[in-house]
Amino acid sequence: MKPISALCAALAVAIPATLSAETVGEAEYMNHRATGHGASGSGDGLFAELMTVPVPDLTHI
Ligand code: HEM
Repeated sequence: MKPISALCAALAVAIPATLSAETVGEAEYMNHRATGHGASGSGDGLFAELMTVPVPDLTHI
């Protein structure tokens, strides 16, 4: 039987990471935050003008 480390190495080659953490994070941001905070995070999303309080600029936190 092969050592577990050899099996892990084989799997890592056989299953390439098709989605990086950055790609997933960007998609999460665009799907759930950009409507309010804007694509750039500066608080100018499509719904920002509908809010009763200003949408903060997240680039400063
Ligand atoms: C899950 C996604 C979201 C995250 C992680 C997030 C993050 C934040 C953070 C960290 C703040 C506080 C900023 C500060 O105190 O300087 C904030 C405030 C705020 N966000 Fe978001 N936001 C999200 C989605 C949204 C969306 C979609 C909208 C608009 C449609 C929105 C509108 C606002 C508003 C109006 C405030 C100010 C609230 C207040 O001052 O009482 N957010 N958000």
